Amino acid sequence: MDKQDKQDKHPNTDNFFAAVAEKSHGAALRGDYTHADAEYVVRQDWQAYTPEQHALWRRLYQRQARLVPGRACDEFLKGMAKLDAAAGIPDLAQVSDILSAATGWRLVAVPGLVPELTFFTHLAHRRFPVTVWLREPEEFDYIVEPDLFHDFFGHVPLLLDPVFADYLQRYGQAGLKALKLDGLEYLARLYWYTIEFGLIQTPQGLRIYGAGILSSGGEVEYSLHSPLPHRIPLDVERVMRTLYKIDTYQETYFVIPNFQQLFEETEPDFTPVYARLKALAALPADTLLPGEAELGIAAPA
Ligand SMILES: [Fe+2]
Repeated sequence: MDKQDKQDKHPNTDNFFAAVAEKSHGAALRGDYTHADAEYVVRQDWQAYTPEQHALWRRLYQRQARLVPGRACDEFLKGMAKLDAAAGIPDLAQVSDILSAATGWRLVAVPGLVPELTFFTHLAHRRFPVTVWLREPEEFDYIVEPDLFHDFFGHVPLLLDPVFADYLQRYGQAGLKALKLDGLEYLARLYWYTIEFGLIQTPQGLRIYGAGILSSGGEVEYSLHSPLPHRIPLDVERVMRTLYKIDTYQETYFVIPNFQQLFEETEPDFTPVYARLKALAALPADTLLPGEAELGIAAPA
């Protein structure tokens, strides 16, 4: 799609491609945005996936499915069992029917990353964007841009949990507000440290609910059992102050007691929080503040 075409179709977000190129040192996004509509939604051409791609999906799925029992939270495992996507790349429309009956969410197929306004608008309307393309075999262990496997395996199972599903919608609504309040960097950290890299303390021990961990071959074990990272109870304002790294395992994980508390902590209006944070320096990812108690390493699964 040429530049003018992009701008006609996506009038609010014509800086998006330029911003992505700048952040990624000139690299273009991998997806095909040519057919995306104004909300960046495309049709998932399920018939077009090759047998090799389905086989790669099965290998990715099997590896993670072996890792997550006893390590992912029960809500995730229950959702994963219900979605039953082990056999091949899922048809997003079919999965949407399961989700919408359970929690009113639907999946929308997208070419890859989408602008913040678009992303928040989808979440606020209980639509979760899922990338349509799958990584290449040589990216089995590591991929830079989120792909179909990360988006689906990591994120979709918890959309079947009513409380988490409500949290994600509230996050989208907060995002739309943050855009107007210049609070986006703070809210992005909240997403990172909860939805992508969150841990949860359960009666059975420490468990994972973050999609970035649950779709990773190595971080599942590391996040629970490595002595290196900090694991500290989640405090929303502390999280919003904390920088994160995108190219290493996390140096700090924030732990919630349950999804209800996460939901309640995001209920207040963040306007005064953003105002306070703007007066404070951001904290490096490996910070441990005086008085912060580290939680122990999880017992072996
Ligand atoms: Fe993600």
